[in-house]
Amino acid sequence: MSILTDRPALRAEIDKVAEVAGYLWQKGWAERNGGNITINVTEHVDDTLRSLPAIAGPFPIGKQLPHLQGCWFYCKGTGRRMRDLARDPMANGSVIRITEDCAHYEIVADEPVMPTSELPSHLAVHDYLLAKGSPYRASLHTHPIELVALTHSRKWMVKDAATRMLWSMIPETRAFCPRGLGIVPYMLPSSVELAEATIKTIDEDYDVVMWEKHGVFAVDTDIMDAFDQVDVLNKAAQIYISAKNMGFDPEGMTEAQMRELSEVFGLPKSTSC
Ligand code: 13P
Ligand code: ZN
Repeated sequence: MSILTDRPALRAEIDKVAEVAGYLWQKGWAERNGGNITINVTEHVDDTLRSLPAIAGPFPIGKQLPHLQGCWFYCKGTGRRMRDLARDPMANGSVIRITEDCAHYEIVADEPVMPTSELPSHLAVHDYLLAKGSPYRASLHTHPIELVALTHSRKWMVKDAATRMLWSMIPETRAFCPRGLGIVPYMLPSSVELAEATIKTIDEDYDVVMWEKHGVFAVDTDIMDAFDQVDVLNKAAQIYISAKNMGFDPEGMTEAQMRELSEVFGLPKSTSC
């Protein structure tokens, strides 16, 4: 029997992860095992689930994360493919609970699937979000082709240079990714340094952070919203590249046009960042 049986709310959240995993594969952002997702499912965990014994663990997180006490997460499995997760999320991911010491986790799931190698970044970010009282419960790491391509140029690694260009491609990017794209210079995948740099950048008021020559890390209330933010940003990058391929530099919306959007939609940041 699956732990999702008779738990429709938990199943619905994990089904959303599976739906997004399918989109990531279709978009070409999830080669092999590329990318990972974690969602905080604590609010959907009942006493019966809480009383179940672990099927694996405890394993060290590598860090003590005090705000994760009593928290539960669904995580993509390390080495697992998004396209497989889309079909069968409980065979390609697992539910974990954080132990009392806030430094270990145990697997309480259908199968002992070890969580993503980027768990340090994901859990550290969830810890940060809870400490801040944020309603965000989902984090997504993926490899969107055009956004990653931009990071191979110093020009777009300057703080907010890519944000300004992407916002100016189409009004929706400004409206639906209103905090823009934060920048983290290249660091070793799955390292604690990368986790710390990601939190520092999110704390500078970004929902989507670019990991140089690697991918993006996005947070939002649920996984669909996190995906949407990356999707609108990558669409803007595609429009920029399409114009360049047609042989000209895209004009971009004017400062006045973007300011008007900020006023009408009540957006949180100025266009000059
Ligand atoms: P995992 O398979 O461990 O989730 O790693 C994929 C990835 O994209 C690492 O950055
Ligand atoms: Zn990656």
